[in-house]
Amino acid sequence: MADLKTKYLGLALENPLVAASSPITSSPGKVEKLAEAGVAAVVVKSIFEEQIVADVSGMYASLKGDSSAVALEYLQADLPGRLGPEKYLNNISEMKKSAGIPIIASVNCLSSAKWIDYARKIEDAGADALELNLYQMPVDPLITSNQIEQSQAAMVKDVTDAVKLPVTVKLSRQYTALIRFVRELESAGARGVVLFNRFLHVDINLDAESVFYAPNYSTSGILPDQLRWAALTRGFVDCDIAISGGIHSGVDMAKALMAGADVGYVCSAFMINKDFDAGRIILGELTAWMNIKGYGSLREFQGKLKETDLRDGQGFERAQYVKAATELE
Ligand SMILES: Cc1cc2nc3c(=O)[nH]c(=O)nc-3n(C[C@H](O)[C@H](O)[C@H](O)COP(=O)(O)O)c2cc1C
Repeated sequence: MADLKTKYLGLALENPLVAASSPITSSPGKVEKLAEAGVAAVVVKSIFEEQIVADVSGMYASLKGDSSAVALEYLQADLPGRLGPEKYLNNISEMKKSAGIPIIASVNCLSSAKWIDYARKIEDAGADALELNLYQMPVDPLITSNQIEQSQAAMVKDVTDAVKLPVTVKLSRQYTALIRFVRELESAGARGVVLFNRFLHVDINLDAESVFYAPNYSTSGILPDQLRWAALTRGFVDCDIAISGGIHSGVDMAKALMAGADVGYVCSAFMINKDFDAGRIILGELTAWMNIKGYGSLREFQGKLKETDLRDGQGFERAQYVKAATELE
């Protein structure tokens, strides 16, 4: 029988399947079902910095005309009051008691100043780790990329200084120099990075000539971008790497691990199938693939295809496809 055990953020996990922060991880009942389906850990649906600093009911009133589309989408799904700051802490305690798997809290934040005490409360509530979701639209024309990255690294440092919990950082995909930035996050105390968050899709309704928020589930087709960046980063940083985005099967999970991920986060596969069986299926397929290949444990193939030389112009660092392009002519 293949051994699927792995480690993430210093936590011993039964297998590499982590349920990603989303509506599937918003309540203790759902988390219990995820654990029954074999999921090794969950990242609880994010609470927003804005939610922590403001009373939720007050925020509901103030949402009208709010320019933050992200805050609006997440909050509308959970109001009124279901994911208030106190409720969030209670949920973590409940999840810890009932699910029997590691619980990773998640905070969507832009700065640490106003909510750092809350990070300690998350720790007291029994969370096993904390994920910082740096989900931010860089729309200020006066701020440089360097300023944004410096403030994000400083925030991570503030949080890691304030809590003993291992902290992981969920990144958006558009960083100019990702490997270097991940190293800065490591220096700031991050134990892991999550590659990547997916932005909410804003589409245009041509009849109404207005924008709307489109359902935003992935397919396996988006996985290669995560594989590329995990493989490029793995050999050049020490922290753990989670791949998030496009894992829908055991084969996808095997690819994520082979690129160098320690765990794979899954959201859409659960949301699309509208049940938790996706967990059992993914783990069953991963085991079957390992058996066919003769792998007894993840260690035997984890990181096998990571990049070891970033300057040889081969493999994942090759951005232009000379061979493929000439074949198409
Ligand atoms: C409806 C929905 C809600 C989400 N909410 C959150 C959230 O609260 N916090 C977060 O960090 N990511 C959130 N995500 C992103 C997921 O955690 C995950 O990173 C992303 O969907 C990629 O994984 P997938 O390809 O398996 O869907 C959400 C995704 C969806 C589809």
